[in-house]
Order: sequence, then C-alpha cells, then structure tokens
Amino acid sequence: MTPRPSSAKDRNSTGGRFITLEGGEGAGKSTQARRLAHRLVKLGFECVTTREPGGSPKAEELREILLSGAVRPLGPAAEALLFAAARIDHLDATIRPALARGAFVICDRFADSTRAYQGALGNLDPRWIRALEEVSIGATRPDLTLILDLPVETGLARATARRGANAADRFEGEDIEFHRGLRRTFLDISAAEPERCAVIDAAAGERQTAAAIWSLVAGRFSLPRRAKPAGIASYIEPQRGRAAGVKA
Ligand code: TYD
Repeated sequence: MTPRPSSAKDRNSTGGRFITLEGGEGAGKSTQARRLAHRLVKLGFECVTTREPGGSPKAEELREILLSGAVRPLGPAAEALLFAAARIDHLDATIRPALARGAFVICDRFADSTRAYQGALGNLDPRWIRALEEVSIGATRPDLTLILDLPVETGLARATARRGANAADRFEGEDIEFHRGLRRTFLDISAAEPERCAVIDAAAGERQTAAAIWSLVAGRFSLPRRAKPAGIASYIEPQRGRAAGVKA
C-alpha cells in the first residue's frame, strides 16, 4: 500500500498533498519538480507532476492560445479569466482526483502566477483576483508553495539559453522592469502567507536548490527517512496534458 504523508494540517480535506512551484522565468521550476517527484517516489509515495497553464487535455489547448499572445489585446482581466478557465479543468481532471487518491501533486505554477502576472503587473484589483480564486479554485489550495527566487538577469539568461532559436513566448518577451516587478510580487506573496510559502534560493545551482527543497518538504510533511517499496509517478505529457505513463 502506498504510504500517506503525515501532517496535522489537511487543507484539502483529502489524504493527498498539494505542492506548487512558483517564480520568474528560468528559475528551474520544472527541473526541480521532477527531482522532487523522484525523491518522493523513492520513498514509496504516489506522485503526480503537472503544470500550468495546462495539465489536462482541454487546459493544454488553452495554454496554446494563452502563450501565443492571442488574448493579450483583450487585457489582463481577460487573460486572468482564461488562465482560470484552464485551471478549473486542470483541477477537475487531474489535481483533485490525484489528491483524493492520497497522492502528492507537484504543480509547476498555479494561482500565484495569476496573482503576479495578471493581477499585480496588470494592475488588477486584488479583491477581484481573490474573488476569481474563490470561484475557480474553491478549497483546493496548495499545502506548500515553493517560490524559486533568483536575480532577473540570471533567470532570463537561462530562459534564453533554454529556448535556443525559438522565439520568446508572450511573457518571456516582456521588458526587464516587468520581470523585476514579478520577482518583487512573488516575494510579497510569500511574506503575506508565510505558513503556505517558502522562498528558495534558485541561483545556488540545481543540486543545492534540490537539497534545499527536499529538506523543506521532508520537514513540512514529516516524511520518513527510510525508503519504502517504490511508489508510482504519473507524468503529464506536456503537449497533450495526458498522463504519459507510470514509473516506479
Ligand atoms: P512556461 O513555458 O510554462 O514557462 P515557465 O517555465 O516560465 O513556467 O510558460 C508559462 C507562462 O505563463 C509563464 O510566462 C507564466 C505565465 N502564466 C501567467 O501569466 N499566468 C498564470 O496564471 C500562469 C499559470 C502562467
């Protein structure tokens, strides 16, 4: 039987645990999500790694539209609504079923990205953003949010190297002041909700960052130190938002 993480707090009213990774461009969130999932699976937990926008077939279709920049002319409120629409399907199709099974869900970006990119940088009223969260997310809030923080110049250089000859997407293409504002906003979110959020130094290099994340997650969820029989990892196939397979 897959072991269950223990924690006094059970915000999702399920046996599962919901961890989100947030931060600016090039912070290494997807790499760290994979590394974290690998360690959890080695301990015997079921782990679902997913991302936003996307993470379900319908939400991945909306991702294409959002990252193409097609919604940009409609303004940040319309963009926030479409991100929320994708999130509703992602929650229903992927996140809630996994939490209900008692799995760890590790999500590369979630509602804090809407707060930062559309809310703070789009000058939307924070009460409007909170109301949108209420109707789109309800009670399924992250148990832990890891904010991967690094200097904007370093993150953008990594993002540029990663995409090679491909064009910058809708958000990578914004100017440096936008990205500085993003960094400040994520730090502000963490300061406002210290129980849920933790800031991780993502400039330290992949291994050190992974070690910092692991020590935080293991402490927060009182994880056992000894490995149990291998758990199950579901990876969401990035292009289609379908579970691509199961690995032990
Ligand atoms: P992605 O290619 O996944 O980039 P990253 O590695 O930076 O996560 O692109 C997702 C982009 O969408 C990213 O620039 C942040 C943006 N975004 C929003 O603006 N609002 C949101 O609610 C979410 C989830 C993402």
